Amino acid sequence: MKAIRPDSEITAIAESCEIAALVLQDLVDATVEGISTYDLDQIGKAKIAEYGAKSACYNYRHGSNIFPAYTCISVNEEIVHGIGRIDRIVQDGDVVSLDVCVSYNGYIGDNARTIAIGSVEPNLKNLLEDTQNALLKGIDCARAGNRVGDISNAVESFIKPKGYGIVRDFVGHGVGKTMHELPQIPNFGKKGTGSLLSPGMTLAIEPMINLGSPNIRFLEDGWTAVTADKKPSAHFEHTILVTDGDPKILTKVKN
Ligand code: MF3
Ligand code: CO
Repeated sequence: MKAIRPDSEITAIAESCEIAALVLQDLVDATVEGISTYDLDQIGKAKIAEYGAKSACYNYRHGSNIFPAYTCISVNEEIVHGIGRIDRIVQDGDVVSLDVCVSYNGYIGDNARTIAIGSVEPNLKNLLEDTQNALLKGIDCARAGNRVGDISNAVESFIKPKGYGIVRDFVGHGVGKTMHELPQIPNFGKKGTGSLLSPGMTLAIEPMINLGSPNIRFLEDGWTAVTADKKPSAHFEHTILVTDGDPKILTKVKN
């Protein structure tokens, strides 16, 4: 498996990313007080089909576990990989993490965002803003000649002084024909370590940041990761392309 992709693959990944970004925007717009996370997932399913893509999450296997939903919807203390439920109703004050990973013409696009519903506590608003900015700090280090550890360190050194918990159990990843390719991109690490970044690498960078402890548990569904202390969590993700110049965000909605 080559982490540096030919132009033909990059074009295909960019197309998939564009769809992933459109679906994520559709889901953001649909996430209002009173809707169930199951209904949101069904909207995600319909939109993915509308754009001619497939969900990369549906039927995704991890060991003997098979992911049953089309998108990941994780509310409050749920960190990632939440499964939409008819009895989980979005409420005022919630933070909702929406993660859309699609496959189009055989290539993946992956992105996520956490949004605040109605009147959210100021410390939670800050968590969202800080996690989004941590992602941008990480992306800014995704430059040819840097190493994966430079991205990891940029996220960690931005987040650490703020006292949040950085989730260590999940990492960013290469994006190609499959959802999780090399290199792994932790949200903590040392500058100048890890794989060398080169033009033509497509990477999903995705800080998962907890208001409290970094420790996680899994719900009985075997998928949903929740904070051990039940405090809320945020997740922002873009798929980016390493170039000769500035990193290019592939999962940006074009106006
Ligand atoms: N963006 C998520 C990730 O990188 C998508 C997971 S889909 C699931 O892990 F099927 F694994 F839940
Ligand atoms: Co991802």
